Amino acid sequence: MSKQTNSLKAVRGTRDLLPPDTALWNHVEAIARSVFARYGFGEIRTPIFEDTQLFARGVGEETDIVSKEMYTWEDRARAQSEKAQSLTLRPENTAGVVRAYIEHKLGDSGQLQKLYYIGPQFRRERPQRGRYRQFWQIGVEVLGPVSSGAESPLRDAEVLEMLATLLDELGVKGWQLQLNSVGSTEDRRRYNAALREALAPIKHQMCEDNQRRAETNPLRVLDSKEPADQELINGLPKIADYLDEDSRAHFAAVRAALDACGVPYTVNPRLVRGLDYYTRTTFEFTVPDGSGLGTQNALLGGGRYDGLSEMLGGPKAPGIGFAIGEDRLILTLQAQAEAAGGAASEKKLDVYIAPMGVERNPAALALARELRRAELSVEVGDGSFRLKKSFEAADKVARRIVILGEDELHSSILTVKTFATGEQTKIAQAELAKALRA
Ligand code: HAM
Repeated sequence: MSKQTNSLKAVRGTRDLLPPDTALWNHVEAIARSVFARYGFGEIRTPIFEDTQLFARGVGEETDIVSKEMYTWEDRARAQSEKAQSLTLRPENTAGVVRAYIEHKLGDSGQLQKLYYIGPQFRRERPQRGRYRQFWQIGVEVLGPVSSGAESPLRDAEVLEMLATLLDELGVKGWQLQLNSVGSTEDRRRYNAALREALAPIKHQMCEDNQRRAETNPLRVLDSKEPADQELINGLPKIADYLDEDSRAHFAAVRAALDACGVPYTVNPRLVRGLDYYTRTTFEFTVPDGSGLGTQNALLGGGRYDGLSEMLGGPKAPGIGFAIGEDRLILTLQAQAEAAGGAASEKKLDVYIAPMGVERNPAALALARELRRAELSVEVGDGSFRLKKSFEAADKVARRIVILGEDELHSSILTVKTFATGEQTKIAQAELAKALRA
């Protein structure tokens, strides 16, 4: 082995999230948890890897995700009692949640299940801004037996209204809700046939990708961003004309409830989404160009999946949900804050304790312990620092500095300087926590 070792880097398409950025991630997650709690959601945490079959059956063999983007490996048996098994890092969390719903018989309670999750997902996509191979989703699933009202258009509208509230509370500007209905499984079958028929005489005029999609999964042609094909695609049959009466009424009821809440939306007949489990309502929230996402302008996506539980061998359990791309949400918030005149200011600690001389280090740590237990945020310097270095270090991270020298230790009267005002005061140690909190 050569002596020189190359330094290892994070794998392509993955990244480290570091402070201070992680403060924004935590802030976003805290707001999401608080909004979800107000709407009666509880958290679910499912495993990060699952049986490969779950995604093949749930998300669909023909989808891009399953056919080319999954991290799949053969997990060897480690004992005679074990079998080798094909496992996959989850590319999304809806299939896992529905698997858990079936496995734990959550439907037996007869109650509507309102679940949310926050966690990493994995897809082997071509990395670019807003598109990673490990990315984070904040998602929600509402499902249950038909008797729990899980099929009601009210649930769709409530989930969409909750998203509007969440994005507003986070301060996302200019979001747009794109809404569509892809009908029942039967409607989709008829529409697929119509699309295939309409594509047959024209597909040779389209790009290679669309020619392939026209064969394997004609609905995917509607997703195409290929500029040269747009005119042809716009001339294809519209799914709205293939919805049966129930799906039509369901979609009208979703829209009426959104209108009643004043949640704006645009009906986009081309929004069919890239996963096979969707039925009826589908949606995406996008942000305007210049919001930091480049071409990846879908902040989140979701929809109804009334047949997914049965596809996975479970009972009838209609449901609806969404997943926000958290990486994209953060990029958007950062870009919009910058455009509005600077990133959100970094929060500084309450105080920096500067021991004068290493022999004062233990006393400094004891004082820090006292203040931290009084709910103050504290950084402790090191006694080997000269006074000037302590002041410079303190000014970078904290709003105030407390000097801890021999005199101070004897008298228990401490010198506190506030950087913003330049004010310097003497405070008795017993009063310090109270004074610093002011
Ligand atoms: P999806 O549209 O595949 O849906 O993903 C949802 C969101 O995750 C996207 O809108 C995007 O913001 C983000 N996302 C997807 N891929 C990447 C990536 N490679 N890098 C960064 N962000 C990405 C689902 O996953 C469904 N499970 C949503 C759902 C829940 N439907 C019903 N319930």
